[in-house]
This record gives sequence, C-alpha cells and structure tokens, in this order.
Amino acid sequence: MPDVVVVGAGVIGLSIAWRLAQEKITVAVLDSGAVGGQASTAAAGMLAPGGEIKRRTEWSQFALDSFRLYPSFVNELQVESDTSIEFRRCGGVELAYSENEWAQLVERAATQKLLGVPTDPVTGAPLLSLVPGLELKGLVGAMLYPEDALVDPHHLVRALHAACISRDVSVRQKMPVLALRFNSGVEVQTGEGVLHAAAAILSAGAWSSSIPIEGPEIPRCGPAKGHLLAYYLNPGSLVPILRHGETYILQRAGGFTIAGSSVEDVGFDSTVDTAVATQIAIRARRILPLPAVPSKIWTGFRPRTEVGGPQIGRYLDTPLWLAYGHYRNGILMAPGTAARVASDVIAYLRSPGAA
Ligand code: GLY
Repeated sequence: MPDVVVVGAGVIGLSIAWRLAQEKITVAVLDSGAVGGQASTAAAGMLAPGGEIKRRTEWSQFALDSFRLYPSFVNELQVESDTSIEFRRCGGVELAYSENEWAQLVERAATQKLLGVPTDPVTGAPLLSLVPGLELKGLVGAMLYPEDALVDPHHLVRALHAACISRDVSVRQKMPVLALRFNSGVEVQTGEGVLHAAAAILSAGAWSSSIPIEGPEIPRCGPAKGHLLAYYLNPGSLVPILRHGETYILQRAGGFTIAGSSVEDVGFDSTVDTAVATQIAIRARRILPLPAVPSKIWTGFRPRTEVGGPQIGRYLDTPLWLAYGHYRNGILMAPGTAARVASDVIAYLRSPGAA
C-alpha cells in the first residue's frame, strides 16, 4: 500500500511525487491518460514573471518564489533523471505600438518593481541587438524583462518521470480515478480496484473537480482552452520571448518557434479552430516575420478555477491535498507547489494523527 496516491501525472503531480519520494515516502501516481499528456506538454514553457505577473495578487509572491527555485530545481532534476533539460534565462521583450499601450507597460513596471520583478525600457540599437530585424516603424516603446526564462516542458516531464521511476514511484498511466473516499486514510477507486493510502493529492489540472469526492464540494476547476502555433526558424534567430498584448513568441533550441495564444471558454473541445489559429498567426506576424503557414498547431486546457487562483493545500481536515488550478502558470509554479505540498504532507504523515 502506498503512503500517498497522487491523482494526475502532469508537471505538478510528478513534481510533488518526486519530492515525496526523495523523503522515502511510498508514492503511486495515477493518470487517466499519459504522463504529461495534457496541459504540461501543451504549454509553451514560458517562465515569465515580467510578461505574466501584472499586479500583486494572493499568488504573485508564491509564483515569484517558485520562479526563483527553478535553477536549482532543474539542476537537481537533471542529475537525478540523468537527462538534460532546456532551461534558459532568455529574457523577454514586450512591445507597445501606441502611447496607451506604453503607458500601461510603464505603470505595470512600477508595480513589478515593488514585487521584485526587474524591468528596463529598451530602445534603438540595444533593442535591435536583442531582436535583430525588429520593425521599429510604429513602435512607441519596448520593455525588457531581463530575468524571464523558458524551459522545455517536454524535457521537464521526461525528467520528472525518470526521476520518479528511479525513486520507485509507481506511475500508472491510463488509470482513471472513479471516486475518492475518506476513512482513516483515503480510498481511491479505480477501474482495477481500490487503492488505500494515508493521504492523497489531487493534481488533475482542468479535470480536478470532475472526480467525485466524498464530502463538501472542492473548488471547481475547468478548462481555459488555448491554441499554439509553431514554426521552424533558424536556430538562435529569436532569443528573448517577444510579446505584444495577448501575443507571445518564443524559440526553443533547434529553432522550434512557438506563437500564442488564445483563451477560450469552450469546454473540453480540443479541436483546432482555424479562425482562432489564423488570428494568432496574423498577430504574431505583426511583431516578427514568420512563414505564411505554421508547421504545427495544437491546443491545450489551462486549469482555471472558478474562485480564481490555484488551489494548493489541505482540503478541510481530510487527508487530501489540492494542487490544481494554476491557469497560465502551472510550469512556473511547479517547484513551489511541490515544495509546499510535499512538506505539508510529510509533516502530516509524521504526525500522530495520520492513518
Ligand atoms: N502562460 C501562457 C499561456 O497560458 O498562454
């Protein structure tokens, strides 16, 4: 019998499982599909407080703390998994094409300064050296986020999976959880029977609140669909994350260049909507020359809670921890979520009240 069952094998669930396993906790991870098969590998992999954290919220400090954990998280994971992870502090550059857009970036930068997110207006030759070939005509201003970074989420998933396996975590794919019940510990009902554990963690992304749980309803979470487009460009032709409004473009090693995105309330409909993809392509080509036709288009489901913000912590006084609803920043918040949840669960398991 595992000490802990983790429901959901995305970056959040695997990170928590890995941290628990490092402390000799016996862990089983169950996923209804494949490891990292949903939002984790749909994600572009931006680690971008400059581009994404626009104001102080209940979770902004948590996101920044998680961001600061990234270098050591990646280093440790590379060693434990014996795989390499593309992680680069590439910076970000946000463009403004009107006085109003520029005023908003300047105002945001003042807020970000208080949060500890560095920003620098950048113009002329320094801007062109960051983004060679950028069309300056019509540009009113550009803001540099020097610390923004990127990680390849596929590498992260592969490494977390390998690190979990090397620490004897049982990772069960195509194993949907049908129900969760509480007794002295937790009963996890699957199609193959019931798993008993002292504690469970719910990290099933946009599907988290679809799993029947005994007891008061957990905060609801659903999908905020996004489209992403990819193009093959010359490797190194774009270094920073380039942004304008809701549009961002980033390039992974090898020249795989991703443009996003959309936020759509259409339920779990994963089909590519050509009209949405075309709009993203048009927006992206306004800020960077790109081929007429993308090489790849895909969609993903950001987990968005109805209450707003992620759910990270113990569910009432049950032996269930919630770890979902990270919306646009699941990859960014994975190290912080894993640290917080694993330390809480370990303290619980070592307390006299645990099953
Ligand atoms: N983090 C970027 C997005 O969700 O589109």
